[in-house]
Amino acid sequence: MDDSTTQANGSIALVTGSTEGIGRETALGLAREGATVLVHGRDREKGKAVVDRIERETDGSAVLLLADFGDREAIRDFAKAIRDRYDRLDVLIHNAGATFEQYGETDAGIERTFAINHLAPFELTHHLFSLLEASDHARVITTSSGVHRRATIDVDDFGTEGNEEYNGLEAYGRSKLANVLFTYELSRRCDPASITANAFGPGFVPGTQLSRGAFRRFRLATGAIGYLPDALLGALPGPIGTIKGGARTPIYLASDRDVEYVSGQYFEDREPVLSAPQSYDPHLGRELWEVSADMLDLSATDPSIERGEQRDGSSGLFDRATARVLRRRA
Ligand SMILES: NC(=O)c1ccc[n+]([C@@H]2O[C@H](COP(=O)([O-])OP(=O)(O)OC[C@H]3O[C@@H](n4cnc5c(N)ncnc54)[C@H](OP(=O)(O)O)[C@@H]3O)[C@@H](O)[C@H]2O)c1
Repeated sequence: MDDSTTQANGSIALVTGSTEGIGRETALGLAREGATVLVHGRDREKGKAVVDRIERETDGSAVLLLADFGDREAIRDFAKAIRDRYDRLDVLIHNAGATFEQYGETDAGIERTFAINHLAPFELTHHLFSLLEASDHARVITTSSGVHRRATIDVDDFGTEGNEEYNGLEAYGRSKLANVLFTYELSRRCDPASITANAFGPGFVPGTQLSRGAFRRFRLATGAIGYLPDALLGALPGPIGTIKGGARTPIYLASDRDVEYVSGQYFEDREPVLSAPQSYDPHLGRELWEVSADMLDLSATDPSIERGEQRDGSSGLFDRATARVLRRRA
């Protein structure tokens, strides 16, 4: 009998934003457990260094794929490259994320924190859904943040119109709340026997590059604490931790047998905990889903995910999956 607690061996795992920080440590951890890891970022040199490390230090293997998540065409090409190369995806970790001090928009005219942190994972899940369905059992994991608890979302106003009132921390918190709402809605649309969806907060991990574009106060705080040695960081009280510590929960969610069928939960330190009250509102979850799909006009981009009306009145791949789950539960 196989009594190992990990199921990563032989799995195919995409970790977005794995050229740095928590994502890189997660990619290394999954490769150590025998996964084939699709390493993602924007910088070829940094990505190559991660792939080389995985091949040198682990039994797993790795492939590098580049895409700027502020560019929709790049996201579509990225997903297509994965679909062309693989016939299934067992683990999808939405980890790439960014913060910005100044207001800015993507080429599509969408505020960039919201576009990169929420719309990109939403769109990527959409384009990779057929590969998730083709897996015996797939896990979708999204890196949110405890900061989501300080945010609220109004689908009529994402705070993305114009820059006068822009507050980088608020925009970041809103995108991280959107990550949790997206996760819960995805879990409602999928049968956990086939696909699970969970989110987590890694705690405050000052040693990463996240503060690069961030608001000044955050940059100063992380800059100072980030230089502390791991031994000291690990010993600090509260949610401040090392990069290795931050990667423990995603590695656990991606590989451990104990959470194979757990879905629709928010984790901290490998334990399910309560997320913000607003994140549990299923109407808001559905609304955010629909507004996100509309913002991306997904029907026009990929014939495999036509949003044309289905016989059951639902639309699109996700909705067909939902309809199947509901039929089975009826
Ligand atoms: N550090 C913390 O305290 C903390 C706390 C809570 C949540 N988080 C979350 O943890 C996740 C990882 O953050 P981290 O702290 O490890 O930060 P990090 O060191 O800056 O790593 C971020 C990763 O995301 C990628 N990325 C950033 N912008 C991108 C874009 N436009 N397109 C594609 N990839 C992009 C980066 O790639 P490049 O190398 O190309 O820039 C990098 O690989 C994020 O979702 C963040 O919100 C972090």
